[in-house]
Amino acid sequence: EDPRLEKIAAAIRVIPDFPKPGILFQDITTLLLDTKAFRDTIDMFVERYRDQNVNVVAGVEARGFIFGPPIALAIGAKFVPMRKPNKLPGEVISEEYSLEYGTDKMEMHVGAVQPGERALIIDDLIATGGTLGAAIKLLERVGVHVVECACVIELPELKGREKLGGKPLFVLVKGGA
Ligand code: PRP
Ligand code: MG
Repeated sequence: EDPRLEKIAAAIRVIPDFPKPGILFQDITTLLLDTKAFRDTIDMFVERYRDQNVNVVAGVEARGFIFGPPIALAIGAKFVPMRKPNKLPGEVISEEYSLEYGTDKMEMHVGAVQPGERALIIDDLIATGGTLGAAIKLLERVGVHVVECACVIELPELKGREKLGGKPLFVLVKGGA
């Protein structure tokens, strides 16, 4: 195992009962305070994707906006935000996905990506997989090849991987649900 992973895992703060009772919240803001661990996190993604001809890094709002751009710059890819509904000003395509209670929508600007481009999808965490599943669908609907999804943290007990339609998922750290 890569020796950097231990410190990355240690820099993630776990807060019980946030945002509601029973949820063990994985807080990456403490990782951002640790300059070495944050740099190592970005480097580990960059090392994995720099030679995979990725030309789109799609970051999922909100915390995919933190990890995505430094990776995109380092591998020479464009950054495309996948946003919550009614935030993007231009023409959008949107994809509904289910949450624990009800549904949410994810939106992407029309024209941000082109058919045949190769995308990496990045977010801080995968739980049930609904969010990443929606991001995959949005990109595939416009003819983009999703190379892989990448997260800092996976909650394996929630089996989110199974919601990705067979797309590979790369994670650095596993957390308890
Ligand atoms: C959290 C997390 C992931 C998503 C994972 O985001 O940052 O994006 O949940 O959950 P899933 O795998 O069950 O879909 P959240 O929706 O809380 O919004 P935020 O990132 O804007 O805070
Ligand atoms: Mg999120």
